[in-house]
Amino acid sequence: MGPLSPASIILLLSLLFLSFLLCIWKRTKDPIVYSPTFKPYPLAGHLPRYLPNRNRVADWLTEVLAAAPTNTVVLRIPGDVPGVLTANPANVEYILRTNFDNYPKGGRFSDIVHDFLGIGIFNADGETWRVQRKTASFEFNTRSLRSFVVQCVNQEIQTRLILLLERVSTNGQVIDLQDVFERFAFDNVCKVSFGLDPNYLNPESTDGLAQHNNGENSRTSFSEAFRNAANLSAGRFWYAIPRFWKIKKFFNVGSERRLSESIATVHNFADQVIRSRKKEKQTSQNHDLLSRFVASSGNYSDKFLRDIVISFLLAGRETTSSALSWFFWILSSRPDVEAKILDEIHAVRAKNRGTEKCGYDFEELKEMHYLHAALTESMRLYPPVPVNSAQALKDDVLPDGTQIKNNWFISYNAYAMGRMEANWGKDCREYRPERWIHADGTFQQESPYKFTTFHAGPMMCLGKENGVHSDEVHSGIHFGPFCDGDRRKKEMSPKGYVAHAPHEGRLAGSCEGKKLLEVFPSHLCV
Ligand code: HEM
Repeated sequence: MGPLSPASIILLLSLLFLSFLLCIWKRTKDPIVYSPTFKPYPLAGHLPRYLPNRNRVADWLTEVLAAAPTNTVVLRIPGDVPGVLTANPANVEYILRTNFDNYPKGGRFSDIVHDFLGIGIFNADGETWRVQRKTASFEFNTRSLRSFVVQCVNQEIQTRLILLLERVSTNGQVIDLQDVFERFAFDNVCKVSFGLDPNYLNPESTDGLAQHNNGENSRTSFSEAFRNAANLSAGRFWYAIPRFWKIKKFFNVGSERRLSESIATVHNFADQVIRSRKKEKQTSQNHDLLSRFVASSGNYSDKFLRDIVISFLLAGRETTSSALSWFFWILSSRPDVEAKILDEIHAVRAKNRGTEKCGYDFEELKEMHYLHAALTESMRLYPPVPVNSAQALKDDVLPDGTQIKNNWFISYNAYAMGRMEANWGKDCREYRPERWIHADGTFQQESPYKFTTFHAGPMMCLGKENGVHSDEVHSGIHFGPFCDGDRRKKEMSPKGYVAHAPHEGRLAGSCEGKKLLEVFPSHLCV
């Protein structure tokens, strides 16, 4: 092609000038209304405000939202669509329930996690989501699944966790508590979702699932591959140049190469389990979720079943371990709360069956109102899923008057919501389990649009009861057998245990917002 003629250059420049004018006209005709407390810079948007705070995003956003008149701001980062951030319960109820259909997860989120999650429930909208939600919520409400969860968690505690803690205690070892919780949660969620046991909590075992995997690639275990796939998928949200990961993926280099290898390991393994479960369909008495989906009338493809199971594994793994890590971190500095929990556990146990047995059932846990309040209060301040996002289908106006445009994202910030004076009063930053206790001593619920730790509306967490149940059984077991007068008391008290764990540095890092935002891909959309 030869050089451009003067006429073509003039035409090109005129076109550029016209599109510039069009842009200006659109902006003046329909300007974006920013919060007076959070104005963007010309061209650079909010980037200059974000950059110095990028290592403390959770706390920075909390300050930004607390300063805004309705705890809601519009965010503009160059190269990304604009979005609304909110910590206002009326807005949250509006997007999660009242006008739910206008706020699907949307392509901005699903594009990033699709390789790993496919169209599993976490990454699904519309009919694909509805089908999975219907079957899963039916199953989660069955007594048999609930008992199966209790059985799995109790077994993990009795046969692995206690042994591990005893060994650590006897050897005077230091352990990473957060890592123990992650392994504990992964074992449980694999058993409940897949009906298989990775034995991840037992550090001496090679990975139970890798052995199951016909010996193939036993070096890269399923559990490790799952962990890598989850972390590397989440990492895609953090590129300074949005979507740069696509170029790396195209050339199959660096983190994208590791991600595709990890995903392949996870998928291969899941495919094998699904095939064998389908073969067993007629004869099996399995209680796990995969078997229930296979046995249901849905006639789902292997790929669909794989996506479903992977979403469930992800849902239960990091959330539960994050909740437990924060809970024990808080308790390590609150002997008053610890003492009250112990008193309650002793009272319930003494009333029901004496002190010698380990483990608790659903009915006993229901009586532990203070334990429930102590855990809930810790999840109010440190929600395992700190941010959650959706994408608007049409222009809309939120209850507080904030305008949102078609295709914009909207994020509610559960971490900030737990720290808003407007939501929780002047002592909002204090850890005070009593705020959840009714005058008659029973646990009192709060609106899920204000306490958003488990999401709310039609997409509310399906594992809420099971997740919390597992946390409570778990905490109970720490406080119970190790402190109620049997021989183990002298060897390890919960306080000593928590204080010995080298998790302070790791969790202290979390307080700065990093770990919090790494927890779960769907919360990384800010
Ligand atoms: C402390 C523990 C837990 C917390 C804080 C928690 C929190 C959440 C949150 C915030 C969501 C919404 C996520 C989104 O839409 O992006 C969610 C969804 C979900 N959770 Fe949980 N979760 C916990 C434990 C569990 C467990 C143990 C399971 C089951 C094994 C589970 C299963 C699910 C499922 C299936 C969804 C998707 C619901 C839907 O899209 O309809 N969760 N959870």
